Amino acid sequence: MRQTERLAADTAGLARAAAILRRGGLVAFPTETVYGLGADATDAEAVARIYAAKDRPSFNPLIAHVDSFRTAQNQGIFDETAARLAEAFWPGPLTLVVPVASTCTISDLARAGLDSIGLRVPAHPLAHALLEQTGRPVAAPSANRSGRVSPTDADHVLGDLEGRIDAVLDGGVSQVGLESTIVSCLGGVPRLLRPGGVPREAIEALLGRKLEAGPEAGSNPLAPGMLASHYAPRARVRLNATSVQPGEAALLFGAETPLGIETAQATLNLSQSGDLVEAAAHLFSYLRQLDASGAATIAVSPVPENGLGEAINDRLRRAAAER
Ligand code: TXA
Ligand code: MG
Repeated sequence: MRQTERLAADTAGLARAAAILRRGGLVAFPTETVYGLGADATDAEAVARIYAAKDRPSFNPLIAHVDSFRTAQNQGIFDETAARLAEAFWPGPLTLVVPVASTCTISDLARAGLDSIGLRVPAHPLAHALLEQTGRPVAAPSANRSGRVSPTDADHVLGDLEGRIDAVLDGGVSQVGLESTIVSCLGGVPRLLRPGGVPREAIEALLGRKLEAGPEAGSNPLAPGMLASHYAPRARVRLNATSVQPGEAALLFGAETPLGIETAQATLNLSQSGDLVEAAAHLFSYLRQLDASGAATIAVSPVPENGLGEAINDRLRRAAAER
């Protein structure tokens, strides 16, 4: 990638940042908690570049940032509890995990294939202006390389991501310096998934009830780091397949054609040209589509382990795990 632009916190800088996001680029931007590494959440390839830039070994669900509660309601379903929290704490350092709405435009990859979505309306004026000008939900994890601490100014961001992202919008130091509080509102029970910028006590006082701890009961990880609620196909998943059995669905990668491909019930190619960013962008939606074909097994071609391939293979292994 070319040199990372440092954009000033003025009209021209904002317009440039919004334009880069709208054409699928990566822009780090300040929020009141920490700097986020933003991409158009509706564009799976742009989202895939976030994981590549961060060197993330797995696809975690990302927080989608929007400019208002109204916009958020097009993406997620807010029950009474979620709506009360949104009205009380937005804009601000609170992320709400809610079921996806039928009108949701956020890519499967940004949601890591889940049927829920983490939404936040940040309070930082620059973040707000950027979201308004971009006119799309912006997926953004903290703007650091995987395994490093979250950045609270533009120099931190450049120290980690210089040359790996298109631009950083320089808005000075983030005030909160701690990530947002994450509350899940799934199944009518509010749960504290991560403590953060809004204290638990403030949320409990508003709701008049205690927050449950951690993820839903019964959603024990199938493998370390994995929420059981992660999308798992109904079909069996057979990895490193170099041939396809009659009636199997085939998930291909690259130009090579496995033996018996003509007997496949359905076939999709993650990337004909062997591009891992393109493959990551297609992964979750293609698994869903092949699952919907009704095949009992999805045979998956080998995917190389380099770059985003590590995260793709990690996700495929989880999908293939016994359950
Ligand atoms: O303050 C913040 O939250 C910052 C700024 C940039 O907004 N962002 C941030 O993102 O900390 P990140 O990717 O570092 O953390 C996002 C967390 C992850 O732990 C992820 O598991 C959780 O949000 N999350 C997002 N969507 C979720 C969902 N649908 N279900 C459960 N957890 C979700
Ligand atoms: Mg982080």
